[in-house]
Amino acid sequence: MQDLLALQEEALILFARLDTPHALEEAKARYLGKSGVLTEKLKALGKLPPEARKTAGAAINQVKTALENALQNRREALAQAQLEEELRATALDVTLPGRTPGRGAAHPITRTLERVQTLFRSMGFEVAEGPEIETDANNFTALNIPEDHPARAMHDTFYLDPGHVLRTHTSPVQIRYLQAHPLPVKIIAPGRVFRCDSDVTHTPMFHQVEGLWVAEEGVSFAALKGLLIEFMRAFFEVNDLQARFRPSFFPFTEPSAEMDIGCVICGGDGCRVCSHTGWLEVLGCGLVHPKVLEPLGIDSERYIGMAFGLGVERLAMIRYGVDDLRTFYENDLRFLRRFR
Ligand code: FA5
Ligand code: MG
Repeated sequence: MQDLLALQEEALILFARLDTPHALEEAKARYLGKSGVLTEKLKALGKLPPEARKTAGAAINQVKTALENALQNRREALAQAQLEEELRATALDVTLPGRTPGRGAAHPITRTLERVQTLFRSMGFEVAEGPEIETDANNFTALNIPEDHPARAMHDTFYLDPGHVLRTHTSPVQIRYLQAHPLPVKIIAPGRVFRCDSDVTHTPMFHQVEGLWVAEEGVSFAALKGLLIEFMRAFFEVNDLQARFRPSFFPFTEPSAEMDIGCVICGGDGCRVCSHTGWLEVLGCGLVHPKVLEPLGIDSERYIGMAFGLGVERLAMIRYGVDDLRTFYENDLRFLRRFR
């Protein structure tokens, strides 16, 4: 009896100490297996006299039950511990802030285009569009730039085939729009244009916003200047904006002018951006030439047209103080992040 209790004690201590299911099953075999200590004791019962056999048998079975219970409890405890360990290893901290996708932003040129459009809309202009692949006829001939005219050389361009070019300006939208709409018209036409150009104030692809206002009254060269100055003041949010109109030449306008804005990079002292003139050209403009209106069936005695084509990158350059226009298209995130 004494013997059995010591055995039970020893086994329970051992079970409690073992910490893997494998070791536990080995220990079980040692006590309860086919040739385990308790099994041997049961086998030995046969040698006892019947009276003693009964009490001894009951005592052994009691120990056996105690060990089986202890084993089962320990098995469960180990399984539970293992589960907890696994959960801990694969734990998710649901209180961690999530990873948000990087916040994008509109490109500074896109934002400038939107700003230009918003301002002209507020001045009563509709927005029109034209294709980037344009016919030679619309890009040049209909704008009074005949085939061998030297003005074509000013728009050194990308020819796709003898009849088509990547448009060199947004002025062909004037032709398309006048062909398709009754007068009066008052539109702007923003879009991408292409030329063989590259330096601090020129890129091969850039944006223009064309303006065209053809009507019987309210249109004059003075009104055109007033409109453009008003626009520039609103665009740059300055009242004493430095601006000047320079007489110029475009085959499709007469008279013609180019508008310059005081260089913001050097404040007018002269730098590489303004070619040391203190001024930066932002647009060309003028009154639409009768040689453009008449072939479209428009009576140029009755109707006056004013038109302009402004360079969007130039406006962005001045507004943001960027000293090389090409940086807008280098896709350098360090530069672009400044415009978020
Ligand atoms: C024209 O393209 C005329 N179609 C503008 C016009 C429209 C005149 C209607 C009269 C009536 P010009 O080639 O000057 O003109 O270009 C207009 C503006 O586009 C320039 O003032 C300048 O701001 C911008 N620009 C011209 N070339 C480039 C270039 N390579 N990169 C960036 N901006 C340019
Ligand atoms: Mg020019």
